[in-house]
Amino acid sequence: MTVLGIDIGGSGMKGALVNSITGEMLTERFRIPTPLSRKPKPMAKVVKQIVDHFDYKGPVGCGFPTTVRHGICKSRGNLHKKWVNVNVKELFSEATGLPVTIINDADAAGFATMNYGIGKGRKGFVVMITIGTGLGSGAFWNGELIPNFELGHIPYKEYTKIEDWAAASAKERENISYEEWGKRFNTFLEYVDLIIAPDLIILGGGTSKDFDQYKEYITLETPVIPAGLQNHAGIIGAAAAAMHPATMD
Ligand code: BGC
Repeated sequence: MTVLGIDIGGSGMKGALVNSITGEMLTERFRIPTPLSRKPKPMAKVVKQIVDHFDYKGPVGCGFPTTVRHGICKSRGNLHKKWVNVNVKELFSEATGLPVTIINDADAAGFATMNYGIGKGRKGFVVMITIGTGLGSGAFWNGELIPNFELGHIPYKEYTKIEDWAAASAKERENISYEEWGKRFNTFLEYVDLIIAPDLIILGGGTSKDFDQYKEYITLETPVIPAGLQNHAGIIGAAAAAMHPATMD
């Protein structure tokens, strides 16, 4: 079935039509920059623009960059604080006139990777880390999603969240090399390993494409591999989630 998947990030909102059975992307990705205010109403308008761009009618799956419980935003992540306790499912359904399923963005990326990508068939404890504006995490036990892991929120030194120091946005903001950033990211992964001891860590998000440039700074014994899926995992996983609204809601 053809489903519209939307991946909402702190800097861009991206959509594409996806075959929800095979996980194949059927169109080019359409991207609109996230409104600078990162507030609910302007972002809901962009969701509607993405739907209109594809002239789409049907279920929509949406990856959202905060913890999401039963369609409700439960933390602000890197968005405006007005998002906390907003029923995102209702807001986007009203804005588009279509049924919308909401899933955390890293959970969506992990869902795609575990169902259609490199994680397919992997047993045990697998964690997907998405590297972008923040550090997202999706946790899977024998392929089943355990929603809303927030490993990027581990406090570190003077930072309330380690992602403020080790996400891709910190690399950009401080204009540091892959060596310096890779060492920071490795510190983050060491905490992840210490706290939850996964069998495998899969990296997603734009920066995972440049893995060759920082893999030498990753010193964990636990295997760490990039996801592939050309940074489309968030869109594909969001579309797939729309096929399981009962599980997500
Ligand atoms: C949020 C997560 C999200 C991640 C990546 C973090 O700031 O707390 O929920 O998955 O950013 O967007």
